[in-house]
Amino acid sequence: MSDTIHTECFDETPTRVVSGQGALESSRACLAGMGIDRALIVCGGNVGKLPEVEAFTRACEGCIAIEVFSGAEPDPADRNVLDGGAVGRDFAAQVVIGIGGGSSMDCAKAIAAEIGREGWITAQDRPGEPTQIEHDVPPIVCVPTTAGTGSEVNPFSVITFAQTQRKLVLNHEKLFPHCAILDPRLLVSAPKMVRVAAGLDALTHAVESYVSKRATADTRRRAGESIRGVAKYLKRVAEDAEDMQAQAGLQRAAMIASLSFAHTRLGIVHAMALPLSALFGVPHGVANAVLLPHGMRFNCETEPEHFAAIAAALGVKTEGMSTEEAAAAAPEAVEALAREVGAPATMSEVGVEAGAIDRMADDAMKSAHVQVNPREIAREDVVTIYRAAM
Ligand SMILES: [Fe+2]
Repeated sequence: MSDTIHTECFDETPTRVVSGQGALESSRACLAGMGIDRALIVCGGNVGKLPEVEAFTRACEGCIAIEVFSGAEPDPADRNVLDGGAVGRDFAAQVVIGIGGGSSMDCAKAIAAEIGREGWITAQDRPGEPTQIEHDVPPIVCVPTTAGTGSEVNPFSVITFAQTQRKLVLNHEKLFPHCAILDPRLLVSAPKMVRVAAGLDALTHAVESYVSKRATADTRRRAGESIRGVAKYLKRVAEDAEDMQAQAGLQRAAMIASLSFAHTRLGIVHAMALPLSALFGVPHGVANAVLLPHGMRFNCETEPEHFAAIAAALGVKTEGMSTEEAAAAAPEAVEALAREVGAPATMSEVGVEAGAIDRMADDAMKSAHVQVNPREIAREDVVTIYRAAM
């Protein structure tokens, strides 16, 4: 059933990473080792029915009591956090296990903080101010079912506050997961476009982190490793969800990108992708996929050496090319990869209307990602890029 399970620690995160086929089922022993006998699982509606999750719950019977809160919605809202927190407190949960994509894991992190103090989430609707957690938070375990967000090893939790319609990134060291469980068998049930979008989200994290104003030699090493991983495994994952070696490789690449961007933040592509999701419901990874080559072209001339290195990491044979030629090959390589895996190429293909470009540009310019983009961004640049991506 299970192959070898590996446990690793990284300098960039306090999260212990347990990986391998069957890692979820075998994590029961790890929980027992933490002295835990009451666990709250946080997930979306369908995840609780996955055979691997059922097997884990069965494996816990007799030693760990499990309560499931399946109310983590896509783009989780403060209401989900309040509800999950109440369930966790009533159950006296000692650990919160988030199983799912980024939304479920982010929701689980916030629920863990909410368990420690009722009403905590409501007080966090303060844009531009640091997240405050002065109370104890039960340990968080994250179990991704997509290879994209990297939320399993970072301290971020994106929550939408319904009353003010603000989508805020909470960020606090107490939101770092205690443990991340990377079990590639959990990735199999996602439809092809979900797998592709998640992988291209991970690639966008790695590319934007590589050239961020905050990048260091260490973050670039991680980002480069991630880019090579996506280039190597995304096509295989798109073609065959049962390719366990490729799924594990892509899952690792997504996690490694997160180790990098947790320190650097992202850039113009993520800033511009947010309004596509907010106004037209375009899935986050798809929005990034459409915009990434355009954002790279915008940044290329500012950071040619780094884009040349990105081209090489994507598999472009850059020997004999000038730095500028190699840099220009990077967005081409991303476009070719996106085409090969069947990702949409234009904003109109995914339902975005050109009439919204002005409003989207205003919204994109408010994103904190704009500050760390390597090239200064004017509102007119954002409009030009949106038009090019239509
Ligand atoms: Fe992202």
